[in-house]
Amino acid sequence: MTMKKILFAASECVPFIKTGGLADVVGALPKAFDKNEYDVRVIIPNYACIPEKYQSEFEYVGHFYMSAGYMLQWVYVGVMKYEYEGIKYYFIDNKTHFGGSQPYGNICWDIENFCFFCKAVLSVLPMIDFKPDIIHCHDWQTGIIPVYIKTEFAGSEFYRDIKTVMTIHNLRFQGVWDIEYIRGLTGLPDYLFTPDKLEFNKGANMLKGGLVYADYITTVSKTYAREIQWAYYGEGLDGLLRARNHQLFGILNGIDYSIYDPETDKKIYKNYGLKDSREGKAANKTALQEQLGLPVDKDKYMVGIISRLTDQKGFDLINCVINEILADDDIQLVVIGTGEERYENMFKHYAWVYKDRVSANILYSDDLAHKLYAAADSLLIPSAFEPCGLTQLISFRYGTLPIVRETGGLKDTVIPLNEYDNTGDGFSFTNYNAHDMLHVIEYSKEIYYNKPDMWQDMVKRGMRKDYSWSASTEKYMKLYDMMLTPPPAPEPEPEPKAEEASEEKQPKAPAKNVDAVEGAQL
Ligand code: GLC
Repeated sequence: MTMKKILFAASECVPFIKTGGLADVVGALPKAFDKNEYDVRVIIPNYACIPEKYQSEFEYVGHFYMSAGYMLQWVYVGVMKYEYEGIKYYFIDNKTHFGGSQPYGNICWDIENFCFFCKAVLSVLPMIDFKPDIIHCHDWQTGIIPVYIKTEFAGSEFYRDIKTVMTIHNLRFQGVWDIEYIRGLTGLPDYLFTPDKLEFNKGANMLKGGLVYADYITTVSKTYAREIQWAYYGEGLDGLLRARNHQLFGILNGIDYSIYDPETDKKIYKNYGLKDSREGKAANKTALQEQLGLPVDKDKYMVGIISRLTDQKGFDLINCVINEILADDDIQLVVIGTGEERYENMFKHYAWVYKDRVSANILYSDDLAHKLYAAADSLLIPSAFEPCGLTQLISFRYGTLPIVRETGGLKDTVIPLNEYDNTGDGFSFTNYNAHDMLHVIEYSKEIYYNKPDMWQDMVKRGMRKDYSWSASTEKYMKLYDMMLTPPPAPEPEPEPKAEEASEEKQPKAPAKNVDAVEGAQL
């Protein structure tokens, strides 16, 4: 069997650099493929802010000078290499572009850095001696790669047959700036900056380039794949996504089950499993309450929030009704996250007002996050949109019930409680409305205090779910295999018989586009 060669191109990847869920996916997914059949490698920028303990292990492969548009001429491209947990990683080196203290900064500079990155990824392939069958691009930072493959690089023998997949982790971020700037950086010809290609509201859109030119598009849940074809969630690209409906798949993310396992997790206070989850969670709760200075009470209903503090995550809903949520002394709210200042301040303020009920941890700490997954009774995720969402998957694993808005991956993974037949493993609401959210929080509290057996049944159902990477990896393999299987040779047309021949002349009804609403299925 010939080895299928896949290159993941992305702007972040665990354990080297992370600002969000994208890094978790790019870090975990390559490891889940069968190594006898798939050689999956990863390429990201060599950010100066990658921890020294990794950087010091990187091996220098080589360097050269590259030109793209007139604004990027004769620039240094270095390549570093590192093998980690069985996967080969490559790092594009250039301190002007990736020398900052954080991976991203001002969007204008980010666009310049990632236009450089897109061309550099393709240019280094001969040097690292790896000709991928498929380049799997993630998010807008890699959007120009499929464009180059189908245009500037298409004339070259080396690049001609390389196929591309573009995965959308978040459609809100697209990499848009004015046409002259992106043309000047990339050197792409004028004819690409038209509304059917890279042009977008009179600017140029890097993600759109990827979505137009990639052979296939995926996103990270089935529902999000359907939602982005509607104007409400489509961020101005819904028409294009509808047009590419047949090459658009929703494949749910997984989580790394070896990292998130309450039976072995060294970051939590007390390990537990399905059988002793009640006692185990209570012990974790009281220890966390003590650490955070909250009243220690194993029976107090604890709601967690672990999130980037951005608009996407529904914090304006919380802001509307936070006094109602915290009105009584029967709830504790523990927040971990950083992000927009107004939300950071909002939680700090309420932690000051309700000292005995709110703990606002405005920081990113993996350690504390694990402790909260184990300690909390429920996790609140009222997102305006959510391509997949990873925190609800982790919370299931720790016996913590998600309270979610029914959108994207949240809708696909959380089954709301149905008391009458005792099914479900979480709580949900449909409309983006603060009082709908308040109502389900109140409802969850009522079940927690008044129907503890029902609550425990939900905990067990959640813990039994399987959101490891295995199911999703199967789907990616199916997609790759389909892309790499040559189409069957057309069968020779049989000679038509006399009566059939006349039928053939009737115009046929067009085949029904069964995927038009659902998005394509794998
Ligand atoms: C983005 C999305 C999130 C998704 C993650 C990984 O962060 O907002 O929903 O889980 O990417 O795909």
